Amino acid sequence: ENLRAFVAALPKVELHVHLVGSASMRTVTRLARRHPDAGVPADPAVLRRFYTFRDFDHFLTVYWAVQALLRSAADIHELVVGLARDLAAQNCRYAEVTVTPYNHLLDGLPGDDLLAGLASGRAAAAAEHGVELAWCFDIPGEKGPVAGRETLVFALRNRPEGLVSLGLGGPEVGVGRAQFAPFFTAAREAGLHSVPHAGETSGPATVWSAVHDLGAERIGHGTSSAADPRLLAHLAEHRIALEVCPTSNVRTRQVESLAAHPIRRLLDHGVPVTLNTDDPPMFGATLNGEYLAVAETLGLRRAEVAQLARNAVHASFAEDTRKQALL
Ligand code: HPA
Ligand code: ZN
Repeated sequence: ENLRAFVAALPKVELHVHLVGSASMRTVTRLARRHPDAGVPADPAVLRRFYTFRDFDHFLTVYWAVQALLRSAADIHELVVGLARDLAAQNCRYAEVTVTPYNHLLDGLPGDDLLAGLASGRAAAAAEHGVELAWCFDIPGEKGPVAGRETLVFALRNRPEGLVSLGLGGPEVGVGRAQFAPFFTAAREAGLHSVPHAGETSGPATVWSAVHDLGAERIGHGTSSAADPRLLAHLAEHRIALEVCPTSNVRTRQVESLAAHPIRRLLDHGVPVTLNTDDPPMFGATLNGEYLAVAETLGLRRAEVAQLARNAVHASFAEDTRKQALL
């Protein structure tokens, strides 16, 4: 119980959370009632069952159904502010939030409405909740290089305030990282950071490709790196942080249980590990819950728990003065 209070009071930052996946149960049921055609349950108990995933591909199918509920700037605004409220309540004052513009455009949400909702939501997050939000615009990898080009163009043409990085999400199997190299090169030349997902649903070769082909500065998940000692040494030496999302990995059935998660091995090899939620209500996860579960499962001392929180500040793309304030 003491540990729970310690975790709750610990200043934390969140580096891996998808905007769509952060929608609260209340928001999703409300939107589902408004758009019954989308196939998302409007009843909370049924929605909870809807959020029981057979595997990673099933998770993505559900995620895309929720994504299609977002039809206006007001919907986006509400999600952003709701996320900020949830973060503030957990003593998290800075987050890098992944947004997938290409998917929203395909779902019929105009780009200007997306940008307006992000901007007004971000302003409200700061003013009303004291939470600074930064954006990662990510490429839905399953849609190929077309999505890469469109995401890059959307990012650079609009360059919204708070945009810090280019990401790459979706399935990994059959979606080689290297095909997106030109977009990450252009993004890095334009001053954006490189943060692809890799090693969540495929092996360490995908992480190597993210590092070598995409210049990854952090890795979304990266859990399968644990199978490759050379890769672990490389991540540790080059201070490439992993955005580990333990509950997500259990709920999408990438690992059997928290106890079976390779996080201990990652830490033992000196890899900069950060703890994150990915898609919190979809996985029944909270940032405090991730810290608490990992601390209990691994038997971490308080100093070690605090170090995990500091790892995330160091691995963030916040301004240096901001990092000092967050530490
Ligand atoms: N991985 C890939 N794509 C995603 C994820 C994830 O964890 N969450 C939402 N889209
Ligand atoms: Zn993710």
